[in-house]
Amino acid sequence: METVIAGNIQGFKQQDAVLIISTAEAQARIYVYSPSIIRVTISKKQEDEDPSYAVIREPLADFDIDESAEFIKVNTSALKLVINKSPLRFNFFTADDKPLSQDDNRFGTNWQGDRVITYRKLYPDEKFIGLGEKTGDLNRRGTSYTNWNTDAVDYGLKSDPLYKTFPFFVGLHSGLTYGLFLDNIHKSYFDFGATTDDEMSWFGADGGDMNYYFFGAQGVAKIIEDYTWLTGRMEMPPLWSLGYQQCRWSYMSAKEVLKIAKTFRKKKIPADVVYCDIDYMEGFKIFTWNKKTFADPKGMMDELKAMNFHLVTIVDPGIKIEEGYRQYDEGIANDYFAKYPDGENYTGYVWPGRCHFPDFFRDDVREWWGAAFTALTDVGVDGFWNDMNEPAAWGQNMPWLVKFGDKYMPEVRNAYGMQMARATYNGTRTILNNKRPFVLTRAAYAGTQRYSAVWTGDNTGTDEHMLLGQRLVNSLGITGISFTGVDIGGFSGNPTPGLMVRWNSLGVYTPMFRNHAIKGSKMREPWEWGKANERIIKKDIEQRYRLLPYIYSGFYQSALTGLPISRTLAIEFPFDEKVYYERFQNQFMFGDALLVAPVESDKLTTDVYLHKGDWYRLSTDEKLKGGKIVNAPSPLTDLPVFVKAGAIIPMQSVLQNTTEKGDGILQLHVWNGKAANEFVYYEDDGNSYDYENGFYYRRTIRFDPKAKKVTLSAVVGNFASRFSKLKMVWHGFEEMKITKKLIELENEQLEIFYNL
Ligand code: GLC
Repeated sequence: METVIAGNIQGFKQQDAVLIISTAEAQARIYVYSPSIIRVTISKKQEDEDPSYAVIREPLADFDIDESAEFIKVNTSALKLVINKSPLRFNFFTADDKPLSQDDNRFGTNWQGDRVITYRKLYPDEKFIGLGEKTGDLNRRGTSYTNWNTDAVDYGLKSDPLYKTFPFFVGLHSGLTYGLFLDNIHKSYFDFGATTDDEMSWFGADGGDMNYYFFGAQGVAKIIEDYTWLTGRMEMPPLWSLGYQQCRWSYMSAKEVLKIAKTFRKKKIPADVVYCDIDYMEGFKIFTWNKKTFADPKGMMDELKAMNFHLVTIVDPGIKIEEGYRQYDEGIANDYFAKYPDGENYTGYVWPGRCHFPDFFRDDVREWWGAAFTALTDVGVDGFWNDMNEPAAWGQNMPWLVKFGDKYMPEVRNAYGMQMARATYNGTRTILNNKRPFVLTRAAYAGTQRYSAVWTGDNTGTDEHMLLGQRLVNSLGITGISFTGVDIGGFSGNPTPGLMVRWNSLGVYTPMFRNHAIKGSKMREPWEWGKANERIIKKDIEQRYRLLPYIYSGFYQSALTGLPISRTLAIEFPFDEKVYYERFQNQFMFGDALLVAPVESDKLTTDVYLHKGDWYRLSTDEKLKGGKIVNAPSPLTDLPVFVKAGAIIPMQSVLQNTTEKGDGILQLHVWNGKAANEFVYYEDDGNSYDYENGFYYRRTIRFDPKAKKVTLSAVVGNFASRFSKLKMVWHGFEEMKITKKLIELENEQLEIFYNL
């Protein structure tokens, strides 16, 4: 196989939004999307570009370039791209000429057959974070990864690839940050200096164009903001989906589902969601109900609703081959399935047996799929769990001959799951009218946050998996996926009671809080672990419900800026070396205020690294000096969680579910600190899209230690808060602990002085 190197520039022209550069071997195109986002494509072919499933923005209409004998320069207010003419190389600098990221001068971009790779210079202190759902360490330097969406059954601590593809990373060196998104859905590769004697990093794909977006903003949060501006952000989730979710493969009958729900209510353990895994269906046929075990789905749903429970049902892409089954007949009649080149429908085995697979890349197929959800929504289901959409078929290796439209499987595989989630989201959003659907998907590609939450697939019930799961969640957050969770307790195997308790306490601080387990495993519900453990689990779930006003506001922040809820410390403290140490790398911020230190279930104390500044232990209000390592008690009753000095956390009294009205009192917790701080409080009906038309309630809460006061700005928006009274709870203040008197929560600006 010949290696083709993009050689010297022979000519270039700027046509409005695009700068087109030609060499004998290739054509490069440069677009500017914003002052801090420049796109580079390099292609051997001169045809139209592949469509992007990720990007939702258009480039700017025009931008400035300079030319000299050696270079063409693209200048924006934030970024400089210096394009070397002979040979063609792309080097990025800050506006004040500091090198951010450069091609490896020897190799640049080249091809072997259709495989295209870009080689980059590696800086001595360079670190890399990102790529979403990838095992390994927070700092990915010295490792390499492949993107190829896989049904990663029983994945291990170092397995790669897993279920999802997020070809986006952030590089950090010399006190500078940059981001790079390779928008290519072919099988792709990232090597962060693993194999090159620390000389270079490289990335590329088995086919398609070299097509990357370079982000030059300074600060990891800013880069995430730009990346999610480009690929979209999640919308406000239904509030109920932030409550506790109880799942299992499977609750086998309507009777069992109802028994689970009733037990939560009887034991007064808060919960909002129960799931039906594959066994609710007739022969695993999607959009059917088992006539024996789920004979009256509407009756079951009515009972669940009366208890304020929501039901999420699983849907897999495989359509059982069976004449008389509606989805099969319609799929055949309209030719909706993936095919071999000769037109024969591809057949693979999944749960139902022999199946065909919808071609979700087609608009008409997505519409057909989306409309079929009435089979579930008609009885009252409003959560839809998309599984097996890598796509999975037993044996894993779907033949490379299988075609989706005019593309072969390897050309589109990594976006299949995303297109299924898109079809599910669009369909159910339409059917549910103004109500928010909850969609959960296992396979995903960059941009999936616009349609769905994700979970990290079939993990295992061990301490190591709990910690790995946290890194996966934190890393997914870097790539725009805020709404994410793991199977708490571990899907496979049986956790020890101690691990179950610990993992549940970590679940409180996970964007999606879902307990799930494999068929045949020990039952996992909170009451299955002995009385003493049940009490701890209950207390932790109650803590989740207390924190919901804070968590919901965190989701609002995420919908607005793309900043995740669970944030690796590398987002806020990117140049603090300790953040990357193996023993601290699982720590994360949960929202703006809380630092959580995940710890194995058998450790009674653990070392925690607190960045400089003052911190408080959440459970005791003990004040701790940051900038050092502290040894924190970590009994199973008390996961180490710390609050940043100056933090503002809105809470509420414990509810049994998010539909419950509650006592109408918003508890505003403030922790004393030297610096002023603010928090944006957000509320809406938690259920509809009315917030898009101004029906929300937002106020900025300010803590001002100099003036000794907390101010709530006047309310913005037309929604009436469910809270009518305010209770101030002061932490670390000498003056007062708690203001006994409740304050009327009027809509005007409110000032509360704490030295009176
Ligand atoms: C897959 C899913 C798992 C589900 C099971 C049965 O393994 O990852 O969550 O329970 O299929 O549907």
